[in-house]
Amino acid sequence: MKLSNRVAIITGASQGIGAAIARRFAEEGARVMLADILDDDGKSLAGELSASGHDVRYVRANVSSESDAKALVEQAMSAHGQVDILVNNAGILRRTSWPDIDIANWNEVLAVNLTGVMLVTKYVAEQMRARQRGSIVNIASIHAELTGPGVAAYAASKAGVQILTRSMAIELGPDGIRANAILPGYIRTPLYMNDANRATGGNPGPFIDAAAARVPSRRVGEPDDVSGPALFLASDESLYVNGISLAVDGGLAIQQAGTNPAG
Ligand SMILES: NC(=O)c1ccc[n+]([C@@H]2O[C@H](COP(=O)([O-])OP(=O)(O)OC[C@H]3O[C@@H](n4cnc5c(N)ncnc54)[C@H](O)[C@@H]3O)[C@@H](O)[C@H]2O)c1
Repeated sequence: MKLSNRVAIITGASQGIGAAIARRFAEEGARVMLADILDDDGKSLAGELSASGHDVRYVRANVSSESDAKALVEQAMSAHGQVDILVNNAGILRRTSWPDIDIANWNEVLAVNLTGVMLVTKYVAEQMRARQRGSIVNIASIHAELTGPGVAAYAASKAGVQILTRSMAIELGPDGIRANAILPGYIRTPLYMNDANRATGGNPGPFIDAAAARVPSRRVGEPDDVSGPALFLASDESLYVNGISLAVDGGLAIQQAGTNPAG
């Protein structure tokens, strides 16, 4: 098992990509702290994985709150005495367009997607530095590099996560801590489906088919498509990988305009 004797904190782990990563890490031997604000789903996932013999606990933590971020890391330390892996996965998507960008919407997105990454990392990095080891995996988005209409705050937050990852890699690298980003494309999760439903008035099928047609791999991704790359970056399989952005998008972002059938 690739994560034996490791303790992992995964934010936004009650559903979607975070839940898939949590399952995968637990199966690879990690003791996992699930952090989220969706208590019922988080507790139910922790219960299910614990019943299969894994050490998985749920902690309510709003990543945009400094006191929650601090308390989360304190709980991990008191339960396990160490934190080896942090996956900053919690994120929200709120649509708004120029010139009507709404300040409340902007602040909410930046607070969770960008400030949340900084806050949890701040408290985890203190502990990792004390042990001179650790791996931080930040779930950004292809919107860090390429974007479209209606997602200015989201894209800005994800570009922020990408550069923050590089800053972590540079400053924490000398202490044995690595930080890398994953840039997912279309991944079928509650976040993606809610957005597809909103965009289509509740008939997302053709929207998803059109998305799949834009992807060289010709499908929309599933949460487990992200858990393998996250495992690679979290584990010792990637000890000399630091500061990268790993696209997990079926090839979506490498295309020249007009080279795919969906345009
Ligand atoms: N699904 C996609 O297509 C896609 C693509 C690119 C990037 N991403 C990114 O992947 C990550 C996971 O997204 P997902 O698609 O699984 O979304 P999701 O909505 O299905 O799951 C996100 C989880 O984060 C939690 N969360 C939200 N705000 C939080 C907060 N303040 N504190 C703690 N937890 C909070 C939610 O409760 C939820 O459990 C996000 O950062 C998202 O931006 C997703």
